[in-house]
Amino acid sequence: MISSKSGCLGTASPVGRARTGARAGRGTGVTRCLSYAALGVLIAYAAVAPARAADVIKGSQVYARHCAACHGPNGISVMPGAPHLARGDGLMQSDMTLLASLKSGKNAMPAYLGILSDREMLDVIAYSRTLRQ
Ligand code: HEC
Repeated sequence: MISSKSGCLGTASPVGRARTGARAGRGTGVTRCLSYAALGVLIAYAAVAPARAADVIKGSQVYARHCAACHGPNGISVMPGAPHLARGDGLMQSDMTLLASLKSGKNAMPAYLGILSDREMLDVIAYSRTLRQ
């Protein structure tokens, strides 16, 4: 089946319009496609923007203050049961999963919801990933 003339995202097929004026019909379709594409890019950007904007320098300050006591200044754990971030332990997860763990806490690890902002947690997650040796 040839569907090259079907509309963007399966909506508003320009085929009908093509009968009245191919150029005008196609123009409308392309414009609509472009605005869907632009919307898609915006949504995609919004989804990844927090991770992209992570500030490792700020993350290192947060780490020194809130995390080093258990995970060690260089990611070599100083508390039994706390993963060695320098070995990448516990870091084989997405930023969003780790963000959720930091917010809610995990066993002996305290919850950081209300203590650190999402941004600070994402910064410290980004910094934690740099500790890997
Ligand atoms: C009081 C000690 C303590 C502090 C402070 C602490 N952690 Fe943890 N952390 C732990 C322990 C214990 C675990 C293991 C939890 C478990 O899986 O039982 C852990 C687990 C983790 C993990 C792995 C999570 C997983 O799902 O396996 C990461 C990443 C992590 N901590 C990062 C941090 C960061 C970043 C901070 C600072 C914002 C921090 N921790 C502060 C003790 C601590």
